Amino acid sequence: MVRSRRDKIRMTTAIAHPNIALVKYWGKQNKTLNHPASPSVSITLDSLTTTTKVATSTETRLVLNGKRIEDLKVANFLDLFRQQFGLPPVSVETDNNFPTGAGLASSASGFAALVTALSEHFQLGLNLSTLSEWARRGSASSARSIYGGFVTLQGPDWRADQLAKESHWELEICIIVTNEGPKKISSTTGMKSSEATSPFYLEWIKTADSDFEIAKKAIVERDFMKLSEVAEQNCLKMHSVIHTSQPAISYWAPGTVSAMEQVREIRNAGTPAFFTMDAGPQVKVIYPRQCRAIIQKSLEELKNVRLIWASIGPGAHLV
Ligand code: DP6
Repeated sequence: MVRSRRDKIRMTTAIAHPNIALVKYWGKQNKTLNHPASPSVSITLDSLTTTTKVATSTETRLVLNGKRIEDLKVANFLDLFRQQFGLPPVSVETDNNFPTGAGLASSASGFAALVTALSEHFQLGLNLSTLSEWARRGSASSARSIYGGFVTLQGPDWRADQLAKESHWELEICIIVTNEGPKKISSTTGMKSSEATSPFYLEWIKTADSDFEIAKKAIVERDFMKLSEVAEQNCLKMHSVIHTSQPAISYWAPGTVSAMEQVREIRNAGTPAFFTMDAGPQVKVIYPRQCRAIIQKSLEELKNVRLIWASIGPGAHLV
């Protein structure tokens, strides 16, 4: 195909949002296709954004938050994608409006924005399900950021699906940022270690399907108590697997534990709220919108943290 000069400088921009899993996966059953070992369900956030611009180029070029970077995961993904569709090299510029690689799912929004921009830039016409398949190849949690609202990721095809729209349930999220720095052990590496060494790994996998079904039902029925119980326990089970890997891994910081305690106090005082943490020290608090004033007052008492507020947001889209 002959490409004109205009085509070379044309840029295509897409936006995607990170998602937070309420029932999580931790472990892979197929490393080539990046299939998780268990199903998960998430919410997509609105106020955190990844904006990605792609342009046809003479070589692969990656720029993250204004700085040229080398990223093997993204470079390998681009090679695979270009090979599949017979595409030329691309230049990719990505900006996150939140800390990158710190357990705030920047890889989820990153690959979702990237595949959305690539499909449009090269007029591939990929539907949402196929975009989700490609996003998962980049980073499994990214499959869910293609969709907005409440999203599931399960076998046998491991493409995400929307369980309910963002308007289904007025939940909000406060992210307690306890440490802004990037994590020391990536999720991919941490998972491999847990699979191989944690004595609790098989137990974790055994209860995954039932946690997933309970969470899905709680979301459909808007049962906050049920969702709260299953999500918090699922998160603590995952971190127990992580903590009991050998050598032990911990994604928590001292502020993580104080934030969890604060959420328990909020709940003990009668306000519905629950916490969840991913592969990083940030604590995400989920609560019904009408409780925001009480939650805000209480979380603002925490020292040395930054609070980011979000609602449930849309899927990846073009600008
Ligand atoms: C704890 O999707 O970042 O957030 O596929 O290896 O890139 P890779 O892993 P990634 O792991 C996310 C793990 C998690 C749980 C979840 O999102 O379900």
